[in-house]
Amino acid sequence: MRRQCDLASAAAVCIFVPTTSTCAPVTTLAQFLARADAIARDGAALIHTAVGREALDAARVALLGRKQGLLTTLMAALPALPTEDRRAAGAAMNATKQALELTLTSAEAVLAPPPDASRPPDLTMPGRDRWTGAVHPVSLVIDEISAIFRELGFTIALGPEAETEWYNFGALNFPPDHPAMEAHDTLYLSDDTLLRTHTSPVQVRTLQTYTPPVRILCPGNVYRRDFFDATHAPSFMQIEGLCIDEGVSFVDLKATLSEFARRFYSGSSRVRLRPSFFPFVEPGAEMDVEVDLGDGKGSRWVEILGCGMVHPRVLDGAGIDSEKYSGWAFGMGPARIAMSRHKLPDIRLLYDSDVRFLEQFSR
Ligand code: PHE
Repeated sequence: MRRQCDLASAAAVCIFVPTTSTCAPVTTLAQFLARADAIARDGAALIHTAVGREALDAARVALLGRKQGLLTTLMAALPALPTEDRRAAGAAMNATKQALELTLTSAEAVLAPPPDASRPPDLTMPGRDRWTGAVHPVSLVIDEISAIFRELGFTIALGPEAETEWYNFGALNFPPDHPAMEAHDTLYLSDDTLLRTHTSPVQVRTLQTYTPPVRILCPGNVYRRDFFDATHAPSFMQIEGLCIDEGVSFVDLKATLSEFARRFYSGSSRVRLRPSFFPFVEPGAEMDVEVDLGDGKGSRWVEILGCGMVHPRVLDGAGIDSEKYSGWAFGMGPARIAMSRHKLPDIRLLYDSDVRFLEQFSR
C-alpha cells in the first residue's frame, strides 16, 4: 500500500504533498469516500500548480495512471469493502475520475501545441506588424493648440471638474436665476457642488492666485445635461484661454485668435467674429471659421469658440483691480475643431472608440 503515496515521478516536475488521507488504509465505505474526496481535492491542486506539458503529463500518470495512479490504488481497495457498499464506492470513484479528467483536459487545452519538428520556422518570412496605439484626434488637436499658445506666451493651468456653484456661475457674473443653473441643464453632485459646465471657473481660480500679467490656457473636461447627438455630447473637452494685463484691448483678442486660426488652419481658412452674450465678458463674441466639410455643400461658417473682454465684475470679484487691468478670454471646443479639421459629420465618431476610425489619425 505504500505505493499510493509515491508520487516521485510527479514530484520531479511539480510539487505534490500527499495528505494523510491519501495514505491511510481503506477498509470501510466512509474511509473510501474520504479517500476519493482527498484524491479529487489534492489532484485538482496538483493539476493547477503543474506548469508546462511535462508537469501535466506527470500529474496525469500520478493520478490516473493504470498501474500506480492514485485512483488505481484506490480501486484495489474496493474488493475489501462489504458487498452492499461497493456500488456507492464505485460511483464516488468514477465521479472523482471524471472530475480529474476534465480538469486535466482543460489544463492541457491552454498549453501551446508542441512545435512541429518536421516543419521548422521559415526565417525568411517578413516580420509581423506590431499593433501600436495612437493619440486620440481630440488630444492631438489639444496638443497642437497648446503648442501654438505656448509660443504666444501662454502657460497651462488646470482646475477641478467638481466645482462649486459660486466658481461655476456666481463669480462669473451669472445672475442668480440664470437658466444654465437649473438642474435640468446641469449635473449637480450636491446643493452647492456640480460637474463644471465650462472651464471658465479656472479664470477666477487663476486670478485669485496670480497677479497679472496672466496668460493661461486650460484644457479640461466639462459636463452638461445634453443629449448625445451629431453635434452634442454630455461630456466634452474645452480649452479656456485667459489674458490679463495693463492696457489689453479687444484688438489683442482679435489679433491673437486670428493668428491662432492662421497657424492652426495653415492660413487657408477665413475667420469671423459675431457679437454674442456671455455674462462674464463684455463685449462678447463667437468666432467662426470657414471650412468645407466635404459633404458637397461647399464652404460654410462653423463656430469654434466663444470669447470676449473679461467683465470688470469678474476681475473685481477675484481681487483684481479692474481700473488698472483688463483682458480677454475664450473657450473653445477641441472636438468641434477636430470635426472641422477632419471633415467629420458626427461628433459621436470621436467617442465610439472604434479603432478602424481612430487609427486613421495616428502619426
Ligand atoms: N464658457 C463659455 C462656454 O462654455 C465659453 C466662453 C469662454 C465664452 C470664455 C467667453 C469667454 O460656452
